[in-house]
Amino acid sequence: MTERTCLAVVLAAGEGTRMKSERSKVLHAVAGLPMIGHVVAAVEAAGVEDVALVIGRDGDAVSAAASSGAARISTHLQTERLGTGHAVLAAREAIARGYDDVLVLFGDTPLLLPDTLKAARAALADGADVTVIGFNTDKPTGYGRLLERDGALVAIREEKDASEKERAVTFCNGGLMAIRGGDALTLIDAIGNDNAKGEYYLTDIVEIVRARGGSAVAIEAPAEQLMGVNTRAELAVAEAVWQARRRQTLMLSGVTMIAPETVFLAHDTVIEPDAVIEPNVVFASGVTVRGGAVIHPFCHIEQSEIGPGAQIGPFARLRPGSKLGAGSKVGNFCEVKKSVVGEGAKINHLSYIGDAQIGAKANIGAGTITCNYDGTNKHLTEIGAGVFVGSNTSLVAPVSIGEGAYIASGSVITENVEADALALARARQTAKPGRARDIRARNAALKERKQGKS
Ligand code: UD1
Ligand code: MG
Repeated sequence: MTERTCLAVVLAAGEGTRMKSERSKVLHAVAGLPMIGHVVAAVEAAGVEDVALVIGRDGDAVSAAASSGAARISTHLQTERLGTGHAVLAAREAIARGYDDVLVLFGDTPLLLPDTLKAARAALADGADVTVIGFNTDKPTGYGRLLERDGALVAIREEKDASEKERAVTFCNGGLMAIRGGDALTLIDAIGNDNAKGEYYLTDIVEIVRARGGSAVAIEAPAEQLMGVNTRAELAVAEAVWQARRRQTLMLSGVTMIAPETVFLAHDTVIEPDAVIEPNVVFASGVTVRGGAVIHPFCHIEQSEIGPGAQIGPFARLRPGSKLGAGSKVGNFCEVKKSVVGEGAKINHLSYIGDAQIGAKANIGAGTITCNYDGTNKHLTEIGAGVFVGSNTSLVAPVSIGEGAYIASGSVITENVEADALALARARQTAKPGRARDIRARNAALKERKQGKS
């Protein structure tokens, strides 16, 4: 069978007033990715090559958020909102290019999965002219009802236009439709607005295609996938469903999570099998965790790579550009930013490491700070393999510490240190015998004098 061509028309021109937002609804994120990005990713994963976005505002931002993968994306402005049938026609130019299949879906359904899109297309390949994805629910209020007879879909009735008997139907329109491409414009152009809302209902094409001797079918999908987000509360529900789904996928792929419900993943988080994620860990975008790595509790990680067998936390923060080598360790209350940490190197306690390169097996003592910023520019700190940095050291960048060097605790290092050298940069200790006793006596006398006065 030759590949069927496909255009996906994604409707996203709605006002989204219930979000109470300055931004278009579809720009609000689930797992760090705008909803429109999830929808387009599902479309791409279903093998669709062209996407037509129908938008009402924030055009540039919406198309930027949508275009991450392989699909060619065009945007089409719907200037007046006259209904879903009218919205699809905003993409007339794209549909007219001629496709075997035209998918119509909504931009606010971030939980949709590629297999459901494939199922809608497969029914077209099997001979249907229109396919509608439906779901069953005990709360059908507000949805269009799918009216079937002898296995065929005969009509979609919107709530406001439905009879009492039709309202009792619990099989509802999920809003996802596949239309035979060659007929799509003819069918949609035939839609009128003679209904309770005075809108052009896309759903009318079911009756239109049948009146012309064509066929329509409904396919059931899980309600969860078709959930549309209208409010911030629903956005949080979608987030929870997405998180639960991804945690499950990761655990089944070999990742250990002790309390999965406390681990928050981003849309692009990669965790390899045999990594262990302990409770209360937050992954922002761009993180890869290699096999055997252990993330202890309460870490926040963003745009970083954690090498095989590395360990971080508890309470570690990895900021963008951190790359931890195999078996390295970043311990409690450490912050690492834009730094490469060599194999087996250790930054165990209370440190800030920014704009640094740390060689293999280096040991960074407690409270080490890279002073990477002079108020204007950022500077690099280079620490060679096997270096030992004593506790409470400030490394004033740009500065370079040669391999195997030893930095005495409490040093403020402003100049490069040669390999294998010992660097001390702190005041020399002096001791005054008996002076502590003298100070105590003086202080006690002072206190007595004050009490005598009062
Ligand atoms: C629609 C369906 C209904 C289905 C429900 C599922 C129609 C007539 N009804 O109803 O059968 O059960 O979705 O959620 O299709 N949009 C535009 N421009 C417009 C109108 C809408 O872009 O002029 C977009 C919206 O941004 C939204 C989508 O189309 O993404 C659906 O519109 P909405 O008004 O929510 O339709 P419903 O009344 O929910
Ligand atoms: Mg709706």
